Amino acid sequence: MRMQTIQTQAFLDQKPGTSGLRKKVKVFQQPHYLENFVQSIFDTLTIAADATLTLGGDGRFYNKTAIQLIIKMAAANGFVKVIVGQGGILSTPAASHVIRHYQTFGGIILSASHNPAGPTEDFGIKYNTANGGPAPEKITEAIFAKSKTITQYKIADFDDIDLNVIGETQLDGFSVQVINAVSDYADLMAQLFDFSTIKSLLQSGFSLKFDAMHAVTGPYAKEILVNRLGAPAASLMNCEVSETFGGGHPDPNLTYAHELVDVLYQPDNKTQSAPDFGAASDGDGDRNMILGKAFFVTPSDSLAIIAANAQLIPAYKQGLAGVARSMPTSGAVDRVAEKLNIPCYETPTGWKFFGNLMDAHKVTLCGEESFGTGSNHVREKDGLWAVLCWLNIIAIKKTSVEALVKAHWAEYGRNVYSRHDYEAIPTDAANDVMAHIKSQFLTFPEQVFGRYSVNTCDDFSYTDPIDGSISTGQGVRILFKCGSRIVFRLSGTGTEGATLRIYLEAYEPDIANHHLDAQVALAEMIQIALDISQLKQCTSRELPTVIT
Ligand code: G1P
Ligand code: ZN
Repeated sequence: MRMQTIQTQAFLDQKPGTSGLRKKVKVFQQPHYLENFVQSIFDTLTIAADATLTLGGDGRFYNKTAIQLIIKMAAANGFVKVIVGQGGILSTPAASHVIRHYQTFGGIILSASHNPAGPTEDFGIKYNTANGGPAPEKITEAIFAKSKTITQYKIADFDDIDLNVIGETQLDGFSVQVINAVSDYADLMAQLFDFSTIKSLLQSGFSLKFDAMHAVTGPYAKEILVNRLGAPAASLMNCEVSETFGGGHPDPNLTYAHELVDVLYQPDNKTQSAPDFGAASDGDGDRNMILGKAFFVTPSDSLAIIAANAQLIPAYKQGLAGVARSMPTSGAVDRVAEKLNIPCYETPTGWKFFGNLMDAHKVTLCGEESFGTGSNHVREKDGLWAVLCWLNIIAIKKTSVEALVKAHWAEYGRNVYSRHDYEAIPTDAANDVMAHIKSQFLTFPEQVFGRYSVNTCDDFSYTDPIDGSISTGQGVRILFKCGSRIVFRLSGTGTEGATLRIYLEAYEPDIANHHLDAQVALAEMIQIALDISQLKQCTSRELPTVIT
């Protein structure tokens, strides 16, 4: 095998964000751009002599090109083997499972998650460590530092590998193994859940609709929901993976998953004919949205409800060690943890902060408000896993999605919640908004805004309880005396300008108000957030781009 060392020049913009490096495809297509970043990853690691790399992506445009290139660079950088999903495709949770199941050294996942795909859209790459989880900040920072000084990269010279055929290709001390990751992942799900009870539910007339949004979960949903659980094939929609994700925006929320929403929200007189259960997953399969008949479950509630009912699921029947949620996620799960008498951790945004807690057996379940829920079965959030949690719980409780949520609120009170996103605003304007809010920190405490009076405010920082690492600047919180709060945060995953997120949460113990629409219940707080931040004045935006 001929190895080449290629001279290159550093790019200064390869800083990984909340979840790896994400840029427009055109940026990645610049000569040496992807190679530089991959070499920076390899240079940061101490690659063991017998190291195997897991590799796969969400199937978006540029996936195939990048996979072949990374295989050749892995060969030149000392890996003895690359395990790759058939067709170069692995959902993010499946990739995490492959790393753990085959005990590989680590993995490279190619994805820009829910961002649109195609030649003019987004691409992304991230490194996951041997525990199957996203590399912690100390590694991503080291990769960024390397990328700014890199002068050469190493690549082997051989023909592209056929990734469509399952099996192993031997190449002079190096091999590439193509696996059926779909069946590996389905086997894992079958171990965690009570498939026979879910199967009976689906045979008893309970109907579901799953929307893969033309992205990676299509084949996984077919194998699990149809082949193994017996749902009719018509239960699936948009399950053929396309390189452009059907030209859509595979983010499972009420705005972008409107095709599914239309199916579940039938006109009034036809609500009964809607499926009993609806779910969607995102580009790389780690996010989920759960719907009932004309009913939306907020991800924060979903986490809390799964936690409260976890013992109905075989994998968690012994109970939970603890739970964790990202800071902007609502406190609904905290109330469940209190009742279960288990610890609840509050981490910064991004899945990478949950890994240490899981490895140390401190938490079993975790989640984020951004449609991410997961458990210690892998080290990524997992869309289909969340769908199966809901189906398993419903199959045993024999209730509807709406009834389950309302019973939960009746027991614990409702954490009314919404997130308003202002996408692709000029970076300077976004920074001005954040600076303006912080400039009022000294005067906020004790101030009264309508029915809310401020208790404290801060810029959230986190000390990892396991390794002591500190992460600062994780979002501005204004905490009110009644337990309600407003959080302002800049996204770390966008590729155009800045995205400002406003997270709004109010606790409502009174069952008489539980039916209220979140936007109505939070109207006063939304106005306070706009006044405090001067957002309209700084950005000239009248309305959010997305409300969830
Ligand atoms: C967003 C979500 C965050 C999630 C991440 C990756 O990051 O808010 O919870 O972990 O995508 O899916 P953000 O754009 O807010 O930095
Ligand atoms: Zn994703």
